[in-house]
Amino acid sequence: MNTSNIIDIQDLNPDTAGIRKIDLSLDLELEIRKLKKEMNAVILPQYYQESEIQDLADFIGDSLQLAQQAAKTNADIIVFAGVHFMAETAKILNPDKKVLLPDLNAGCSLAEGCPAPLLQKFKQQHPGHILISYINCSADVKAMSDIICTSSNAVKIVSQIPAEQKIIFAPDRNLGRYVIKKSGRDMVLWQGACIVHETFSDKKIMRLKFENPDALLIAHPECEESVLSNADFIGSTSGLLKFVTESPVNEFIVATEPGIIHQMLLKNPHKNFIPAPPEANCNCNECPYMKLNTLEKLYLCMRDRKPEIILNEEIMRKALRPLERMLEMS
Ligand code: 13P
Ligand code: SF4
Repeated sequence: MNTSNIIDIQDLNPDTAGIRKIDLSLDLELEIRKLKKEMNAVILPQYYQESEIQDLADFIGDSLQLAQQAAKTNADIIVFAGVHFMAETAKILNPDKKVLLPDLNAGCSLAEGCPAPLLQKFKQQHPGHILISYINCSADVKAMSDIICTSSNAVKIVSQIPAEQKIIFAPDRNLGRYVIKKSGRDMVLWQGACIVHETFSDKKIMRLKFENPDALLIAHPECEESVLSNADFIGSTSGLLKFVTESPVNEFIVATEPGIIHQMLLKNPHKNFIPAPPEANCNCNECPYMKLNTLEKLYLCMRDRKPEIILNEEIMRKALRPLERMLEMS
């Protein structure tokens, strides 16, 4: 082995602390495919992952589809290429399987902005309410929830709750507001937001619309109300992908994390997709948590079988019921 090809991968995960070495002459895609077979593993990436990770998917989808896929997999090991709450969901649905996540620090601002003890206090301030939690939350929050939902089934789930039942919706206020509008149900909202979807610039989007008059504006419901009110279509990542694929229109301004554009182009190579710009002059329309996962870390987590998602058994047991309710009601 030529040692000049060996580099150190800095790793801040407590589970894999220190420095891990990787041989740069390796064809990582090939190695990952070999490891996948050896381990009887399934690779489940979300649409915001780097394109080379998306291309290694056994199945790619939005949060709901990934949870459904995780619930029915026969693989021994689930390699989740997404953020922590998504891998936790896969673990809760498969407590006896090993669930790997390339970088344990791949969190989510929505999950981090809604700590379970504070949400518990909020619940106590609203007696008689059930708690419907967006899947972008910690396992502890799931465990104290009545039902979980995702961006693709939130309206459907809320609409099935008896009219007299009061509801708290957490943690995303933008999705919550959108669901109130679509379902006509009043809900008490936890005031959380996604750091990616709340940064899109209305002014820059409007300018783009003016410069590209044929382009449709499509948006994820985590976007602010001002963006959603101007959108031609609102949907989850898979909803947006389906819409652009079925639409006769050829140009779209995409107000969600730009990782999804890889799949949009694969399915529609002749169409044009313009990422919606953030307020600042930076790449903050990219999810910094999702982008912590890299091809190198994906390879390392499969080679070393860590970092692994480990959850308290009692929390997993409690979090399973609201997740199962979601799957039943979807
Ligand atoms: P989807 O469920 O639409 O894939 O969204 C997940 C997410 O984290 C959006 O920011
Ligand atoms: Fe969380 Fe937003 Fe990243 Fe989605 S895009 S994982 S909601 S921080």
